[in-house]
Amino acid sequence: MSKKIDELLDHDYDGIKEYDNPLPPWWVYLFIITIVFSVVYMFYYHFTDMGDSQKTEYTKEVKNWDDKIAALAAAGNSELTYTETDYAIIKDEAVITSGQAVFTKNCVSCHGVNLEGGVGPNLTDDYWIHGGKMENIITTILNGVPEKGMITWKNTLLKKEVLATANFIKSKYGTNPPNAKPPQGNLYKEDAQ
Ligand code: HEC
Repeated sequence: MSKKIDELLDHDYDGIKEYDNPLPPWWVYLFIITIVFSVVYMFYYHFTDMGDSQKTEYTKEVKNWDDKIAALAAAGNSELTYTETDYAIIKDEAVITSGQAVFTKNCVSCHGVNLEGGVGPNLTDDYWIHGGKMENIITTILNGVPEKGMITWKNTLLKKEVLATANFIKSKYGTNPPNAKPPQGNLYKEDAQ
């Protein structure tokens, strides 16, 4: 392709002239793509039911949340439903792995990937603000410490998730992670393990 020489249009506004060059191809293609995209978009979201409208998406999300709340209510996730057997430490790998998943999703931002602490305290050492016994840990998770920034988890986590998370925390006891936050609270020795 021979390179086109710039051509001037023949009008002249007080000495200001204008080139008659075509638009750059990348610009033209992009423009065409936006038109094609808009047609596909209209078809997908408006003329057919293939994509959810904003209203449908909203209704679905509300329903998901309602279902979750109903499940939590059915599961009776309040400290009143926990008994002695729930406070026994479980070392089952599957339970600990599922607790780790809950922890990774909800807790690492404040307690750190290795539970070393950050905004929240280190959860691997011998010092606990709210008690280091299994039942203390479960109660702290359920009720949170809202005035210090940790929300109440009993409205978002199922009982089995709370139990798994507490057991995951227990499994990390004494791991001495790097950059651990200095101890906070009172000494509680894990004499039961
Ligand atoms: C927004 C930050 C934040 C998130 C997210 C968070 N925590 Fe906390 N957590 C804290 C703070 C802050 C404290 C310390 C409260 C205090 O000083 O009394 C705390 C305390 C705790 C304690 C008690 C520690 C002690 O020394 O007694 C446990 C157990 C705990 N969190 C578990 C969890 C679990 C499990 C999750 C996830 C389900 C979680 N936290 C999510 C901020 C957070």
